[in-house]
Amino acid sequence: PQNVGILAIEPYFPSTYLEQSELESHNGASAGKYTIGLGQAQMSLCTDNEDPTSMGLTVLTSLLKKYDIKGSEIGRLEIGTETLTDKSKSLKTSLLRALGNPNVEGATNLNACYGGTAAFLNCVNYCTNPYNKGKKAICVIVDIAAYARGAARPTSGSGAVAVLVGEDSWLKFGGVKASWTEDVWDFYKADHEVEYPQVDGKVSQECYFRSLRGCYEGFRKEYEARTSKPFAFSSPAYWVFHAPYNKLVRKSFSRLQYYDDPAAPWCAELDIKSRDYDKLAQKRVEKEFNKKMGKGLEVSRRIGNTYAASVFMGLCGVVEGEDLKADKELAVFSYGSGSIATMYNLVVRETDGDRFTLVKCRERMKLKERLQARVKVGAEELDLALDCRELMHSSPKGYSPLYPTQSLWEGTYFLQGIDDKFRRSYGVK
Ligand code: ACO
Repeated sequence: PQNVGILAIEPYFPSTYLEQSELESHNGASAGKYTIGLGQAQMSLCTDNEDPTSMGLTVLTSLLKKYDIKGSEIGRLEIGTETLTDKSKSLKTSLLRALGNPNVEGATNLNACYGGTAAFLNCVNYCTNPYNKGKKAICVIVDIAAYARGAARPTSGSGAVAVLVGEDSWLKFGGVKASWTEDVWDFYKADHEVEYPQVDGKVSQECYFRSLRGCYEGFRKEYEARTSKPFAFSSPAYWVFHAPYNKLVRKSFSRLQYYDDPAAPWCAELDIKSRDYDKLAQKRVEKEFNKKMGKGLEVSRRIGNTYAASVFMGLCGVVEGEDLKADKELAVFSYGSGSIATMYNLVVRETDGDRFTLVKCRERMKLKERLQARVKVGAEELDLALDCRELMHSSPKGYSPLYPTQSLWEGTYFLQGIDDKFRRSYGVK
């Protein structure tokens, strides 16, 4: 199998959103705390009428329909999520109905925000294996990031992405990758009564930075060994990072120049953990940051953290917004708490066929248009919606969603209810 990679990519996010500036005043935070301090503009609002299964069905159905993909073409369906509604029944089993093909491998991948990357790499490996005779694979990545009241709540968000993987792709897997793993307790969900994670924000930031450095140094070595070309942070045309909130990515990107040359005169006097370092480093690479990361990050700035789907949302932003000429390279950094992170590359190419092309994908995604079409709600809705979701989590037996479905877009799946045996049923708008 040749040139395995992305054939099509489709995002989904809820039809309602709130403004972070309004959330600042609603929460009694100082003006600028979320919009400048965290760098977030808006947040997608997920009420109690959507869950990971409904969002997964919505995005998968949309992908199949837009590209006229038959279930029989698919040999593997992988899911990446950390929004579990069941400790045994895999989300994959609930999405199979959209495919209508029982002969499909794959399961749900769980590792905080990394599950999507695990799912994607599994799909790439599946399609690269000649025993699978050219069948395609799909990964559906979906998460609802919901935090308890407090400092982390403004970094909530929700969304899903479906990726079709196969041969002769216009965005092929480049083959260079490096991972970094640690056994840490930065963010975890050990209390099954609540949807919220246990999170130590500061520790999670440190884990993210360490993983970035570990991956970056491994990736650079691997890249240079394979291609005999030098690699520096400015080498890829675009970077896509896991984006819990904009400021963290901005800081992280600015650290790459230090990892390239820790003895450079401009930073020799500075402690990399100091605010002075952060400020200077960000200023030095501001132009590069906007050029290489701006379009991808804009999506998460307006949706919020989508955990496992975050890097794929970023990819959607790059695909729709940038002029992706053949041979341009993208580098992706995916981090999942606990922890595991991987950095890998993707390369743009011209395809032989005309069924799955970059142009078609860009036209059909309608990302900007859909972000624009969302309906704004008041900041107080976040607490109300999360209170409903809390209720659903603490007593799911016989639960009927309290939020009406009228604001959902046509074609959106929604949770109809949970019966007295905890079984969930879904409708479609
Ligand atoms: N105007 C402008 N900036 C402001 C203002 C203001 N009025 N008030 C505060 N700030 C700045 C601070 O100076 C700080 O900036 P800096 O980062 O440049 O130093 C920034 O806002 C954040 O403020 P803090 O007080 O440092 O942090 P806060 O208490 O707001 O918590 C945190 C932020 C830790 C990210 C929290 O939201 C959280 O725990 N989120 C979830 C964890 C997370 O996302 N981790 C990332 C990796 S793991 C994952 O993906 C889940």
